[in-house]
Amino acid sequence: MAGKTEDKKKRKAGSGSTAGPKKKPSAKKAAAKKRTASRKKDFTPNIVVFACNWCSYAGADNAGVNRIQYSPNFRVIRTMCSGRVTPAFVLKAFKLGADGVMVSGCHFGDCHYIFGNYKAVEQFEKTKALVKTLGLDEKRVALEWVSAAEGTRWGEVIDNFVAQVTSLGPSPLNHSKKKRT
Ligand code: FES
Repeated sequence: MAGKTEDKKKRKAGSGSTAGPKKKPSAKKAAAKKRTASRKKDFTPNIVVFACNWCSYAGADNAGVNRIQYSPNFRVIRTMCSGRVTPAFVLKAFKLGADGVMVSGCHFGDCHYIFGNYKAVEQFEKTKALVKTLGLDEKRVALEWVSAAEGTRWGEVIDNFVAQVTSLGPSPLNHSKKKRT
């Protein structure tokens, strides 16, 4: 009887730890984790924005004229229409070190070329599919409509996208060891 009680006590003490003592994470893994954390902490994303000449580029100009404060870490490439931005443009930006790419154009009905922004939507769907195939998070690409009068909206859209890409960390395609500014 006493032996049975002893067995029960032993089983109780051992319950929940069927796999034995917990393994300590290896020093290599811990160091890699630390490196990733510090990389993310110091991370400032490189953002490329393709902005159409007639609305979004003018919206960015409007933000500047009105001294709207927003994230500075992006580069604008002016295109005549958002419909001109093919998936190849976006993939090249990633290849050259971008962490996130945004396409921005006129609101529906405002496109200077009538249906350009509808074409942009089609192109963007293809871009998203390709980005996913490459193993990138589709949150690294965005399509936004900003008119020439929406300087404040331009600032908000950029800030939100920069925050989104920052939370994702550096692009896995960007193996550049160079410190970026
Ligand atoms: S001209 Fe702006 S989206 Fe076509």
